Amino acid sequence: MHRDLSPSGGEQVVIDLGDRSYRIDIAAGLLDRAEAFSGLPVATAAMIVTNETVAPLYLDRLRRSLEPHYPSVLHVVLPDGEAFKTWETLNLIFDALLGAACDRKTVLFALGGGVVGDMTGFAAAAFMRGVPFVQVPTTLLAQVDSSVGGKTAINHPLGKNMIGAFYQPQRVLCDLATLDTLAERELSAGLAEVIKYGPIADMAFLHWIEHNMAALRAKDPQAMAHAVKRSCQIKAEVVGQDERESGLRAILNFGHTFGHAIEAGMGYGAWLHGEAVGCGMVMATRLSARMGLVSEAFVERIQAVVTAAGLPVRAPVLDEVDNVGRYLSLMRLDKKSEAGEIRFVLVDGTGKALMQGAPDMLVGEVITESCGG
Ligand code: NAD
Ligand code: GLY
Repeated sequence: MHRDLSPSGGEQVVIDLGDRSYRIDIAAGLLDRAEAFSGLPVATAAMIVTNETVAPLYLDRLRRSLEPHYPSVLHVVLPDGEAFKTWETLNLIFDALLGAACDRKTVLFALGGGVVGDMTGFAAAAFMRGVPFVQVPTTLLAQVDSSVGGKTAINHPLGKNMIGAFYQPQRVLCDLATLDTLAERELSAGLAEVIKYGPIADMAFLHWIEHNMAALRAKDPQAMAHAVKRSCQIKAEVVGQDERESGLRAILNFGHTFGHAIEAGMGYGAWLHGEAVGCGMVMATRLSARMGLVSEAFVERIQAVVTAAGLPVRAPVLDEVDNVGRYLSLMRLDKKSEAGEIRFVLVDGTGKALMQGAPDMLVGEVITESCGG
């Protein structure tokens, strides 16, 4: 569900979860509009959680917009990077909250990309057994995916996003203007999650992405607005039906089973999450072809759009001696695995995804082919 927000051309998408419903506001310039932060839970303190890259760009602007709403606006600046999505960094948020004697009404604001958003959400879920939080995503990936839907987590050395909670934000504010400062590589990583929505839910959207890739990579405002809005609509539809991933929501993990193995196997941060997902989508489509669900032409189509987004499509070798074995053992740790059986999100070429296991032999062939022979 969506509707126009304002004459400035902003949009709104609603996540319908009963009494935990909330809206996603999408517009350029939201960060500087104090009124955009009206109607959030009343508290004496707001705690902005951000990182050392985003703080110099946007912290003061968010603080100014929050000051009319909260008597005290505090902040904590975390180290930047996937490698810091850890217990130790999470603890810095608790240190700041407790150090400032924050109470259980304190509202946390996640200002940054998916790493900041996932950690802030987890901190909000755990601090005093739950305080409200708001997502202010500043990367494309966070605006189209991670800030929406309430998955929060930190990484464990043995697996990606293994420690976390489902915990919904009060609101998501996507200021499209923040994408102006985003590096090209990060933009491409976000495009992976945009592309994802096509093969799993909306082939017309995939077609639109293919035809608007140059505009997206040039950060054309209209193209970006449409990509964020349509992605959030699809995610809202899926999360509204299956908040806690008892079934349907798993389709949002298209490309992630292979992708998480790449991220963990290479060491967190070596490949960006979106890069691993992009390559993982090509691998999952290749597996779909081996399982007789799509044609080789469809594999080439997905490979072409991922390449056009500026993402790698050749998978990394994770182990010189037993590469397939290394991929398989990492993928067995995936949260979708059941009794040691890896479950893949496969696609059928008509905009539908399905979850199923696959013979190790076929998966091994896909890994070997994807790693370049
Ligand atoms: P990120 O948070 O590491 O941000 C990427 C980089 O961009 C960082 O260096 C960050 O400091 C910088 N940055 C952020 N905003 C910027 C801006 N406006 N201008 C300039 N630089 C900016 O990475 P990400 O791609 O946003 O998110 C990836 C994370 O999201 C992963 O940890 C992944 O597991 C998680 N994720 C979670 C979900 C979910 O449902 N919760 C979904 C997808 C991904
Ligand atoms: N990014 C996958 C999910 O939100 O379920």
